[in-house]
Amino acid sequence: MDIFIVKTQEEGGALAFDLLKKAVDEGAKTLGLATGSTPLAFYKQIRESDLDFSEMTSINLDEYVGLDAQSKQSYHYFMVEELFNHKPFKAHHVPNGMATDLEEATKDYDRLIEEHPIDFQILGIGRNGHIGFNEPGTAFTIKTHVVDLDASTIEANARFFEDESQVPRQAISMGIASIMSAKKIVLMAYGSEKADAIYKMVHGTVTEDVPASVLQNHDNVVLIIDEAAAEKLG
Ligand code: GLP
Repeated sequence: MDIFIVKTQEEGGALAFDLLKKAVDEGAKTLGLATGSTPLAFYKQIRESDLDFSEMTSINLDEYVGLDAQSKQSYHYFMVEELFNHKPFKAHHVPNGMATDLEEATKDYDRLIEEHPIDFQILGIGRNGHIGFNEPGTAFTIKTHVVDLDASTIEANARFFEDESQVPRQAISMGIASIMSAKKIVLMAYGSEKADAIYKMVHGTVTEDVPASVLQNHDNVVLIIDEAAAEKLG
């Protein structure tokens, strides 16, 4: 795992963007994308760049169950606003949180990932060590699945909703096995509330109790963190 400690999110976003450019130069065709506040500076870099995505495919990590693409809190809406409206891809994909048959939707998503192996995966991390919406206790072998969100995740994500009761209780998430199949993974984290999860991910036991710890088993991971998120690394 290569670790870069940056001063600001802007610096982190610029570094992630440089890594993306290199991957694209080397032939990357499919990007795995993440939502949340962490990748915002990265998406800004992309928007302001002249990088062309018209021949590329994107596959997002996750989506809330019960929110459609028009709903402002949906991850689909977030991606359209932050990226796709500005940088059209050949095709962009976000799990369908409105599917009437959620199990079928998860299988469709797995087929999509098989057809478009992910070259470059962006990740954030939850305070409890989740990646995507793979909460502690999720099997490392799992592919796309329907998740019951942890109480701590609902609480952490309530800031994007009117109040905590509005936060959906379930999500569809790409599984840990799918994330691990990406050729290169760039995980960003900022702020002291992520420090514990970062410490366990880097130095802790590889355990399903800390989903991000699985990344110790991947041979091409770059970690971009600020000093606050790095404070427990020593
Ligand atoms: C959310 C998302 C994750 C994201 C994480 C951190 O619950 N499902 O993909 O990485 O939590 O979010 P943030 O970047 O806002 O701290």
